[in-house]
Amino acid sequence: MLTSAKEILTHAKEKKYGVVAPDLWDLNTGRDYVQIAEELNAPLILSFAEAHQHLISLEEAAVIGSYLASSVKTPIALHLDHGTDFEYIKKAISLGFNSVMIDASMYSFEENVRRTKEVVDYAHAHNVSVEAEIGHVGGTTETLSEQSSGESVYTTVEEAAAFIEQTKADSLAVSIGTSHGVYKNQKNPTLNFDRLHELANTIPVPLVLHGGSGTGDDNLKKCIAGGIAKVNVFTEFTTAALTGAQKAIAEGNLKSFMRVQELADIEVKKVLHHYIKLLTLKEI
Ligand code: 13P
Repeated sequence: MLTSAKEILTHAKEKKYGVVAPDLWDLNTGRDYVQIAEELNAPLILSFAEAHQHLISLEEAAVIGSYLASSVKTPIALHLDHGTDFEYIKKAISLGFNSVMIDASMYSFEENVRRTKEVVDYAHAHNVSVEAEIGHVGGTTETLSEQSSGESVYTTVEEAAAFIEQTKADSLAVSIGTSHGVYKNQKNPTLNFDRLHELANTIPVPLVLHGGSGTGDDNLKKCIAGGIAKVNVFTEFTTAALTGAQKAIAEGNLKSFMRVQELADIEVKKVLHHYIKLLTLKEI
């Protein structure tokens, strides 16, 4: 059921569990994600990233997401991930996205506030929730977008508090040591849990962790205990789909592409199943 992201995340924050936000890149991944959420009776923030518009259009993502959300009982928000362009964000809202992220974390504090506020004013007038980012979660350009690449900059508590006060964003992505994409040395990152605790004690809105792939289960569990309410995951779903494709090819009697798709779906579902079980702990 299409549900407000604010409602979903407020509940998660109160009950101290995490909601997974996976990025879909086609009908199959969207369907895989929603089927697993429904099977586990878990809420989901079904996301589509502006940077993936070369794979499917915003219009296609909106039709797929709206249909999938309306076809199940479990709460699903339809979210635009890493929106950078105000016109694109407005279009997403007009097409039925009920949650948007404005990522202006690559700009100065003042410019980030200005761009975020502009989106918040517009989105709230249309009953749409807004996620913003302060500090910067970096990563590799291949994985998500130019905007989410580069070096990470840790979020400071003072800036985060002033940012929320001035922008009235509904949730806040913070940078505590994760990055987008797989970690170059294949090791789990070292996260700044002290900073997370300080942020969680000060910031009134739900906190979001980007760069979930490769973060490691123990780190993620500590993040949830430390106050993160939403975890974004993308890269691990692409590697899971590839594993499925390789398994299909390894079967040796590949007669049609359908088998590749079938096994890719199975692997993608396994990853989401794992993360929902991990992050919701015993709360749902
Ligand atoms: P990963 O690709 O590292 O999982 O990051 C996803 C993300 O943060 C999407 O916004």
